[in-house]
Amino acid sequence: MRVLQDKKKLSGILSDHRNQEQNIGFVPTMGALHDGHLSLVQRALKENDLVVVSIFVNPTQFNNHKDLKKYPRTLDRDVETLESLKDDRVLIFAPAVDDIYGNAVTSEKFSFNGLEHAMEGKFRPGHFDGVATVVHRLFQIVKPRRAYFGKKDFQQLLIIKSLVKQLKLPVEVVGCEIKREADGLAMSSRNLRLSRKHREKAPLIYEILKESKVKFGTISAAKVTEWVEARFAKIAALELEYFIIAEANTLNPVKRKSKKKKYRAFIAAYAGDVRLIDNIALN
Ligand code: PAJ
Repeated sequence: MRVLQDKKKLSGILSDHRNQEQNIGFVPTMGALHDGHLSLVQRALKENDLVVVSIFVNPTQFNNHKDLKKYPRTLDRDVETLESLKDDRVLIFAPAVDDIYGNAVTSEKFSFNGLEHAMEGKFRPGHFDGVATVVHRLFQIVKPRRAYFGKKDFQQLLIIKSLVKQLKLPVEVVGCEIKREADGLAMSSRNLRLSRKHREKAPLIYEILKESKVKFGTISAAKVTEWVEARFAKIAALELEYFIIAEANTLNPVKRKSKKKKYRAFIAAYAGDVRLIDNIALN
């Protein structure tokens, strides 16, 4: 498997492929790869001639310094995980912080029609400026035809779509389904940090999302929210940060349900000191 740190070397290889009219698929990640990431890579391999997977723990998207320090860094294992796909069309790009930021590790400021203010934007100030900055820089290096993002981070997916539209970037953003453990817990690099007790309770997040979907069929969003908050209050191991039912395109919180609109429910909750997020389509 080819692992490149140098962006100039990567650009050289990629432009050779581009000159042969090959389509480049791109899967940006922060590493600690799991089957959720692999499902994105597999889809990208189906739809492109070559796939670049970036592994870069982006410092500017962490609003909490401890969270950045604790983020798992497992490059050797990640390379092995990607090698298990047995496809030599995968290229790993693992730059150093300097390669992306030089000596100014700061993000640019963006605005995304209000998408950035809800949920993760509200609880993690500056997070999406950091995400948009790094994804834009990575797009400039990789120049992909298509880029793959998981619905696990649904708000991020919408923000990247908005970034591409705003900057008129020639890349198609592809949203991929959420990959789950057998017990329903959404796969996440953070799951590695759960204690045994918290790992046992964490699947309740998806259970509650599924129950809220059923309830949303018959009662108002406000009542569903009350029910979810009461349900979490009884689970000592999980602390709900937010439960929000929002319109899927704008992330505006639902006021009155309309049959014409698509809605999703979103949860962020702490299991001990590990912050987990998940979401579900409601209709
Ligand atoms: P990371 O959390 O490593 O996720 C990389 C990609 O994998 C994201 O698009 C994310 O939505 C997707 N993903 C994670 N868990 C998934 C799951 N269980 N099922 C399906 N897809 C899943 O998201 C980031 O990194 C960063 O913000 C990044 C975009 C790389 C910018 O730094």
